[in-house]
Amino acid sequence: MNQPPVLISEQDIQARVAELAAQISADYSDKGDIVLVGVLKGSFIFLADLSRRLTIPRTIEFIAVSSYATGSISSGAVRLVMDVRGNIENRHVLIVEDIVDTGHTLKYLIGILESHHPASIKTAALLHKPERAEVEVPIDYIGFGIGDEWVVGYGLDYAEHERTLPYIGIIEPTD
Ligand code: PRP
Repeated sequence: MNQPPVLISEQDIQARVAELAAQISADYSDKGDIVLVGVLKGSFIFLADLSRRLTIPRTIEFIAVSSYATGSISSGAVRLVMDVRGNIENRHVLIVEDIVDTGHTLKYLIGILESHHPASIKTAALLHKPERAEVEVPIDYIGFGIGDEWVVGYGLDYAEHERTLPYIGIIEPTD
């Protein structure tokens, strides 16, 4: 595949991630430590960069979900593939997503994590597609709002490819 055209450059992503990390560090400065819950697979690069820029004590967990989809169309139904491994009861949880599209995944995740009785839950997403929202879900930290485009890179895939592209690119889905 040719290199997808750039929507958000590597430099702009890194600058925004630094801003988000500074904001999160300030917001949680009086809370002790936090647990970042990365949503597999798409969040792995954002989580790695964001977590290393925080100046507050933090631990890392992962959760995996799968959405039932036909081609590139999400059905809105989500199922849990892997829950967090550590005990997050009474911990301050920050869910870290690469992208919030319809909002179904994040809404489902908040419900799952609430059942573990954390002290608090907040959410961070590198990308948000407001035009595609189907359910209302709180996003406390947003990197960039984008239009209804198919985006790849910085963790996001197209048929599992392009996740390691250092920037956010645009592609046209063929199905
Ligand atoms: C993507 C993304 C979110 C979800 C957002 O995951 O990482 O978890 O879709 O979509 P929604 O707001 O419409 O629910 P995907 O199912 O592509 O899996 P992946 O992270 O493993 O690539």
